[in-house]
Amino acid sequence: MSVPIIEAKDLKKTYLLGKVPVEALRGINLNVKRGEFLSILGPSGSGKSTLLNLIGALDKPSSGKLLIDGVDESTLDDNQLTELRGRIGFVFQFFNLIPRYTAIQNVELAMSIANVGKSERSKRAKELLETVGLKDRMNHKPAELSGGQQQRVAIARALANEPRFMLLDEPTGNIDSRTAQEIIGLIKKVNGEGVTVIMVTHDQNLAREASHTIEVFDGMIKSDEVNHA
Ligand SMILES: Nc1ncnc2c1ncn2[C@@H]1O[C@H](COP(=O)(O)OP(=O)(O)O)[C@@H](O)[C@H]1O
Ligand SMILES: [Mg+2]
Repeated sequence: MSVPIIEAKDLKKTYLLGKVPVEALRGINLNVKRGEFLSILGPSGSGKSTLLNLIGALDKPSSGKLLIDGVDESTLDDNQLTELRGRIGFVFQFFNLIPRYTAIQNVELAMSIANVGKSERSKRAKELLETVGLKDRMNHKPAELSGGQQQRVAIARALANEPRFMLLDEPTGNIDSRTAQEIIGLIKKVNGEGVTVIMVTHDQNLAREASHTIEVFDGMIKSDEVNHA
């Protein structure tokens, strides 16, 4: 048995809203295997983004453990956490592209942060934009692209540093349903090439495309199913 890529053990997160504690996660136990496509379903406010932020080391749990490739995140120092975050591909609902940069510059920037050389950067950015179907839109800025195209750029950017896994928080939340299907197709293609994918959605139909689905309700896991296709 190989070590799960992500393992959460009784993970809890309580925010303080002024003096009022908000229990966003109330004991999450979860195993994600390498190569899986996990979808996280649940209503607004159920704790999905909180869980994703903990997995991505963007925030720390109040208690419990989170192991990445068997390594306890709480044992990592700030440098190691930065290094870990650099190897996670994040994709958000509102794309978060840099408006004054073209598609290719947005993808290249992710690599320059990781100290990839200039010529390698531009070669790889071109390949990635081809992979996501944007070969002829590389020199367009975000405002000159549709929502679906912007999300493709964001996915290319997330893949730039050969991520250990990808985290997507409602990646289709801001695009029409037909384009959403295309984006899911792309995510499945990326997953088929071996990238572990964890995607938050509140769309049951999209969640069904995944190989593993959990439902979060009120900070707890209500169901956990591996889909045998
Ligand atoms: N930074 C924060 N400070 C205080 N409360 C928060 C914060 N972030 C999220 N929450 C609360 O935690 C709960 C879970 O939020 P979230 O993880 O964003 O849910 P979801 O992504 O499923 O909509 C909600 O009640 C939300 O209001
Ligand atoms: Mg959310």
